[in-house]
Amino acid sequence: MSAAYSPGERDAVYRVIRERRDMRHFTRDPVDPAVLRRLLEAAHQGPSVGYMQPWRFIRIADRELRLAIHALAEREHKATAEACVSRTDEVLRLKLDGIRECGELLVAALCEGRERYVLGRRTLPEMDLCSVACAIQNLWLAARAEGLGLGWVSLFEPDELARLLDFPEGARPMAVLCLGHVEAFYPEPMLETAGWDHRRNLDELVFENRWGRAVP
Ligand SMILES: Cc1cc2nc3c(=O)[nH]c(=O)nc-3n(C[C@H](O)[C@H](O)[C@H](O)COP(=O)(O)O)c2cc1C
Repeated sequence: MSAAYSPGERDAVYRVIRERRDMRHFTRDPVDPAVLRRLLEAAHQGPSVGYMQPWRFIRIADRELRLAIHALAEREHKATAEACVSRTDEVLRLKLDGIRECGELLVAALCEGRERYVLGRRTLPEMDLCSVACAIQNLWLAARAEGLGLGWVSLFEPDELARLLDFPEGARPMAVLCLGHVEAFYPEPMLETAGWDHRRNLDELVFENRWGRAVP
């Protein structure tokens, strides 16, 4: 018996990968707690360096906290716009988060005490961060399959967010995740629609044997 999934199941996997979008527009409908639990279970199935499982998720249930996180993101949006010297106005016009509207707000973080984990991280300590990203991607894909949108927001000063949420020393917030129902999924990345950038040609990014050598 083949270990491959059936053609229909395979198509579903590729479909969810293709149709996952970074969402910044949400309806205010609540997320079913059972679905949220499934999504967090999906995140927790993620691969991690040395089986470290460095991810932590904080569900933001308090409205005041949510607004405080939004204020951090807004401040950083402005600072980012100023830093993008030649495209300041363009950046200011972009909608880069749905923090106030989304049904659920999660903060994904790296745990404290990461220095104790050496396996796979001796030369590449940032593999802990990669592991958190893998967990988030699981959640993102599962959310799309559940019909829920997710927006990854990294516009914040991490130390300030850590303070706001009582993080222990060494723990680090990596992402504010806006999760919720949407009117419709964008047909393409919003930054593409906004003319910010485009998807590169895969063949320019895949090399053979040596950096820069195209695959024949
Ligand atoms: C690590 C990471 C950080 C991101 N931070 C933000 C962000 O702060 N605000 C935002 O609007 N989108 C953010 N995004 C989403 C990207 O803009 C988006 O993934 C990209 O434009 C491609 O669109 P797609 O995800 O719909 O394919 C982030 C994505 C990643 C992977």
